[in-house]
Amino acid sequence: MKRILVALILFVGVFACTQVSKEADLDAIQNPTFTEHIAPIVINHCVRCHRTGGGAPFALTSFEKVKNKAKTIAKVTAARIMPPWPADPNYEHYVGENFLSQSQINLIQRWVKNGCVEGSNSSNVFKNIPTYESHLGKPDLVLSLDTVLLHSGDLDRFFYTRISYNEPHPKYIRAIEFVPGQQKLLHHFNGHLINYEGPSAKNIQINPFKIEITPTNAVGSPRETKEVMDYQRSLLNEDGTIPERIHSVVNYLPGVKGVMYPDGIGTIPVSGKFTIVGNDVHYGPSSKTVVDGSKINIFFTNTPPKRGTGELMLGTNGVSKIVPPLNIPPNKITKHVTQFTIGEDISVLTVNPHLHLLGKNLIAFAVKPNGDTVKLIHIPKWNFKWQYFYTFKKMVHIPRGSTIFAVAEFDNTVSNPNNPHHPPQMVSERLEYGGSSMRASDEMFQFIITYLGYMPGDEQISLENGNP
Ligand code: HEC
Repeated sequence: MKRILVALILFVGVFACTQVSKEADLDAIQNPTFTEHIAPIVINHCVRCHRTGGGAPFALTSFEKVKNKAKTIAKVTAARIMPPWPADPNYEHYVGENFLSQSQINLIQRWVKNGCVEGSNSSNVFKNIPTYESHLGKPDLVLSLDTVLLHSGDLDRFFYTRISYNEPHPKYIRAIEFVPGQQKLLHHFNGHLINYEGPSAKNIQINPFKIEITPTNAVGSPRETKEVMDYQRSLLNEDGTIPERIHSVVNYLPGVKGVMYPDGIGTIPVSGKFTIVGNDVHYGPSSKTVVDGSKINIFFTNTPPKRGTGELMLGTNGVSKIVPPLNIPPNKITKHVTQFTIGEDISVLTVNPHLHLLGKNLIAFAVKPNGDTVKLIHIPKWNFKWQYFYTFKKMVHIPRGSTIFAVAEFDNTVSNPNNPHHPPQMVSERLEYGGSSMRASDEMFQFIITYLGYMPGDEQISLENGNP
């Protein structure tokens, strides 16, 4: 036993040293070259967006391209604007987190100051960059959504969309991933799964289909039109009964990557005949005429579901009210809290804070009955553009009787560059048609937790398995 302990201490010691020495190694490099030192940073932290067809406005996939932007790169990396990672890494860590260490930032500074030295064979280093069609590996099934034509000058547009799959055998779905076509314009996709089972199961139409539901007036969308009713009816079973609907099986917001939990967790059993419906698919204003062809990647598994996930939503449309209510007067910075006490032990997998354009910062944590705090997330500088789903590296246990708090500040002054109103106006949650408005110029405050009922040992379960 003693020997194992010593070995363990040695191992932990060595591990900690490698981390430190890695940083020290970078600090020791006085004359970094692009090929040897800068390209690996760019490939690991930047090109997934900065490539042709990526979400960023320009590619960083060659020495010349990086060199042309070198000064701005030095500036935005030092300011930690790029890569975009709003969560404070000194507070909590997550799967797939993407930020630069201080030593990496300093290395870029030295490289630029020394005149951007190329090094040898720089063109070789970009030969094998992945295509990033998926963040989860090779999907078993790719469903293409109905294409949407967006015109130059379009303002926000909203759609309902559906795509179906039909084959004779029941299946287990392990993960579903949304792949946006027009990354720069697609703002929001919230997908539900409808599972058709039994003798009156719908005779499914395979063709993808969509209808536009963009509001035509200031009050909100005309959800009761015949077209919308026909669409809703098209999702029912053959005999008009309502099929099983599993909510929020796939969500997308800018910067969001798909999540794959350990096999057996969050698995969705389906009959083989199912439809994915995208509700309120939201495109932001467009300055070009383009076609969006987004896709849904599906990953099957043979492992039957072991544990189902639950979703707890605090704030707007959720289980807990916002105090004080979310009314943000012009020229004011306001602070709001939403809190909820849980009645069972849970293991948290993922958290997703959601605010709109006036969001300034957010912190969320749980306070246990014994007074200890469980850190969930801190976003010191809210950025509307980068609203990730943050999956913990290991499950986080929150005991029954704990209170979960989410606290957010909103900035409705002229110094908020994202303020949608000039001059600032009163901004609120706008509740309509039984739900809240999705328009970015109205405000929202949500904190969404994906969790399992707790089982002893959960704290040790890594959530990184499925995430390369
Ligand atoms: C998740 C996607 C993503 C990643 C990862 C990313 N960028 Fe960006 N980058 C963007 C987008 C989108 C923009 C356009 C500005 C914006 O939308 O904020 C941008 C803008 C920039 C700009 C221009 C900023 C300006 O003010 O003109 C630079 C320079 C830049 N990125 C460098 C980098 C570098 C260097 C990395 C890696 C260390 C990186 N980016 C990682 C998406 C990304």
